[in-house]
Amino acid sequence: MIELDHVVKTYGRTTALDGLSLTVGRGELVGLLGPNGAGKTTAIKLLIGLTRPTRGSGRVLGAPLGDRAARARIGYLPELFRYQPWLRAREVLRLHTELAGLAPARRPGAVDDALAWVGLAERADDPVSGFSKGMQQRLGLGVALLGDPELILLDEPTSALDPIGRTDVRAIVRSARDRGATVILNSHLLSEVEQVCDRVVILHQGRAVASGPLEEIVAAGGVRLRVTDLDPAGRQALAAFGAVGIDGEWVAIRPLDRARIPDVVEAIVAAGGRVHAVEPGRGSLEARFLELVTGPPPPAAPTDPPAALDALDAS
Ligand SMILES: Nc1ncnc2c1ncn2[C@@H]1O[C@H](COP(=O)(O)OP(=O)(O)OP(=O)(O)O)[C@@H](O)[C@H]1O
Ligand SMILES: [Mg+2]
Repeated sequence: MIELDHVVKTYGRTTALDGLSLTVGRGELVGLLGPNGAGKTTAIKLLIGLTRPTRGSGRVLGAPLGDRAARARIGYLPELFRYQPWLRAREVLRLHTELAGLAPARRPGAVDDALAWVGLAERADDPVSGFSKGMQQRLGLGVALLGDPELILLDEPTSALDPIGRTDVRAIVRSARDRGATVILNSHLLSEVEQVCDRVVILHQGRAVASGPLEEIVAAGGVRLRVTDLDPAGRQALAAFGAVGIDGEWVAIRPLDRARIPDVVEAIVAAGGRVHAVEPGRGSLEARFLELVTGPPPPAAPTDPPAALDALDAS
């Protein structure tokens, strides 16, 4: 569905993408995660053809980047959008069925489906000017879903939403995927990506610094345990699980498959150690993320992919 090959995008002296390679297969739900300015929006704009690569190349839906016919098969929610306030929700959607070139016979059904998917059926005939930010975002999502496109690109789909709205968006995104769509979702919110995506690509300074199933990225972050009464021989035994780092009472092991955490604890206890705290799981994506984006500069990707993490094309 998507193939980017060492894409570089510069704006004047700013390098937005610095050799991004990415492969996404049909039916995948991929999260592009990264801090402000990492290049997430630029990557999405390249995929939809709103901007052209400075160097490198890519294909979307089998066609070169920017291909107009391919673009008609892509749904897109821009990061910053504003719909005509004088139109009603249904009219905005109808206008977009025309812009997207949907066959006239399909238009009414596509509008009704989109309204139902995003929970705006009741407000279909209200003007957009009276919509809250969250409702406008739902409308934007409705536009992206019009006609059930094969590829859906969502740039920060939940930025204006309350927790209920976010849960709804996750459900909407999953059901689009269940209908066969491939979805790319941009976010700087770890929890968004964590809860909905099959795979995560972490962007930093225009490069993919990590990519893979969430479990793998979290595993790469390992586990931290606060341990006392463990003698040096006991510590040495932990090396069987992964690289061991000691900082006072804290023992870090990585990479480590989450499923092996109980084995680690058992090994420590068997060696006479006492375990006071274990920090696995959810926090680890955040820790890993922070480590990747605030730690030492990433290696020169993509010719030198980061060790212990998937290359950029995990699909
Ligand atoms: N049209 C543009 N002109 C000049 N610089 C740009 C333009 N678009 C993006 N940039 C620069 O490219 C870099 C990447 O921007 P981009 O919008 O892709 O980041 P992002 O990851 O989407 O960030 P955010 O989380 O804030 O949305 C930034 O340094 C930004 O200032
Ligand atoms: Mg952005």
